[in-house]
Amino acid sequence: MADLTTHLGRLTLKNPLIAAPAEHMIHDGGVRAAIAAGAGAVVVKSTNESTAARAQLCAAEYVALNDRWEVVDWGPQADPATMILSRSGLHPLSFDAWLAACVEQDRAARDADCLLVPSLILADLDQAVQMARAVQQAGFRVLEFNIGTPYAREAAPGAVSTETAADRVALLTRTICAAVDIPVWIKLTGQTSDVPDLARAARDAGAEAVIVAGRLLGLLPDLETQAPVIGTSGGFGGFWNLPLTCHWLALCRAALGPGPNLIGINGITNGPDVARALLAGASAVGMASAVMLRGFGVIGDSLDWLDGYCTRKECSVAQLVGRAADARRTFADMPDLDAHWTRFVPPEST
Ligand SMILES: Cc1cc2nc3c(=O)[nH]c(=O)nc-3n(C[C@H](O)[C@H](O)[C@H](O)COP(=O)(O)O)c2cc1C
Repeated sequence: MADLTTHLGRLTLKNPLIAAPAEHMIHDGGVRAAIAAGAGAVVVKSTNESTAARAQLCAAEYVALNDRWEVVDWGPQADPATMILSRSGLHPLSFDAWLAACVEQDRAARDADCLLVPSLILADLDQAVQMARAVQQAGFRVLEFNIGTPYAREAAPGAVSTETAADRVALLTRTICAAVDIPVWIKLTGQTSDVPDLARAARDAGAEAVIVAGRLLGLLPDLETQAPVIGTSGGFGGFWNLPLTCHWLALCRAALGPGPNLIGINGITNGPDVARALLAGASAVGMASAVMLRGFGVIGDSLDWLDGYCTRKECSVAQLVGRAADARRTFADMPDLDAHWTRFVPPEST
């Protein structure tokens, strides 16, 4: 068995796989299944004080899409290239009931050497501060603060946030970190041209880890109805996001330095993808929709694969972190390849 332990700030996880939040992390059974599957950490479905954000769950919609943009059946049989278009809402319970459920789940997590992570999504900052204090008071070891949902423009005004300015990220992070002593993980949007700028702002303001990065929005016209599939724009994700996430991770590692403070998320669908995100600079890796689509077996399968890979490469997870990012060069560093490009165009073009 390879050494899969990893560090995130002052925390140590038994392995780098974080079961990330989506609808399969609403009910107790899902959280416990992720713990039982061996995840190093489990992030519960997020909450905030907004009734509109909670109500949105009742109007949530999800479709699995193939590579011809056709809707396919939801489930583990779906092709590995399946993509997901969705609009979501927040945890249906009140904050107090959500917190009480998390406390119970944290007991099960501790028994399995798993880190249970309560997750807040920004609506009103003063309310977020109160909720963050309550999370700490309840005995949790960490807090995730998501300020980068895909949906701020689409949802009811003020229900959720998509923060794209570094000074706002700094203010929000500093405010929450000043309110609690436990480590705070800041989940950032990918809907920006400069994720490393936001990551640096969050780290400098006290975040112990930054989660890189939230999904993009997409709109898919249906050729028959000539209306958008699911009726709205939606969060759009899938396997294709993996290199985009790895690129942001590598740039964030360059901007922040090699400390254990990056969590990769978006497009990680299996064990090889977990290893790729580690190589790109993540110290831990979130996986959400692959598990929601295919079930909790994805977690154990991914960990088994990662264990085999580390054994074959004779290295620990900690040693994998950032290897590809640190080997990354600029275009200007590349050698002259002598008309190499002519091999990549149709014959008429040469
Ligand atoms: C249906 C759905 C619901 C989600 N709900 C939450 C949530 O409550 N809190 C949160 O921080 N992220 C939420 N996310 C985002 C995921 O945690 C993750 O960041 C994103 O889906 C990209 O990772 P993936 O490619 O592994 O799915 C949700 C994603 C989906 C698809």
